[in-house]
Amino acid sequence: MLFKYAIATLVAIVSFVAGVPVEKRHKLNETVTYLGSQSRILSGGAAAKGLVYTAGTVPNATVIGQGIANETRSVIGRLAVILEEAGTSWDYVLKTTVYLANMSDYSAMNEVYAELLPNPKPARTAVEVGKLPGNFSIEIEAIAAIPWY
Ligand SMILES: *[C@@H]1O[C@H](CO)[C@@H](O)[C@H](O)[C@H]1NC(C)=O
Ligand SMILES: *[C@@H]1O[C@H](CO)[C@@H](O)[C@H](O)[C@H]1NC(C)=O
Ligand SMILES: *[C@@H]1O[C@H](CO)[C@@H](O)[C@H](O)[C@H]1NC(C)=O
Ligand SMILES: *[C@@H]1O[C@H](CO)[C@@H](O)[C@H](O)[C@H]1NC(C)=O
Ligand SMILES: *[C@@H]1O[C@H](CO)[C@@H](O)[C@H](O)[C@H]1NC(C)=O
Repeated sequence: MLFKYAIATLVAIVSFVAGVPVEKRHKLNETVTYLGSQSRILSGGAAAKGLVYTAGTVPNATVIGQGIANETRSVIGRLAVILEEAGTSWDYVLKTTVYLANMSDYSAMNEVYAELLPNPKPARTAVEVGKLPGNFSIEIEAIAAIPWY
């Protein structure tokens, strides 16, 4: 018990020194389904055992019809918000799965993905799917480590 408090105190001190507000962190068993001011329905994730599994995340409806590059940028940005809410970031993503409505979009998607994601890139699976919900061209899900776990 004493050990537990010692660890908690140490974590709090390290967080304070690192400038990370402790109260912003999620409890490890907390389900993350609310994207700050954004929609509850569109995206979410669950944190457990030091890992975050996000839901498949689609672009903001405002970019639909603006091309795969804009849709990809939107998805990566929204995932960044989810990951941050879960206490992690793109820096700690281990694996992504990219679902494309049309595999012809692969290289245009890859260009934006390569530009926006930090190196080393997570392992990735990219597949073409028959249909995505809405009229989206892309959906991405991510599995990330929680660095402070
Ligand atoms: C998280 O764990 C605490 C303590 O074990 C428990 O009281 C709480 O209900 C759990 N919350 C969820 C969302 O599982
Ligand atoms: C979609 O994008 C618009 C314009 O950038 C923004 O105002 C809006 O909050 C976004 N909506 C969601 C659900 O992300
Ligand atoms: C979409 O993305 C391209 C660059 O990838 C940009 O030039 C363009 O302005 C964006 N918006 C629309 C509406 O196409
Ligand atoms: C996929 O994209 C290519 C190139 O833009 C296009 O020629 C083809 O018709 C598309 N396929 C479908 C099923 O929309
Ligand atoms: C879906 O997107 C395709 C290609 O951008 C467009 O031709 C079609 O009209 C759209 N369908 C709906 C229901 O918005």
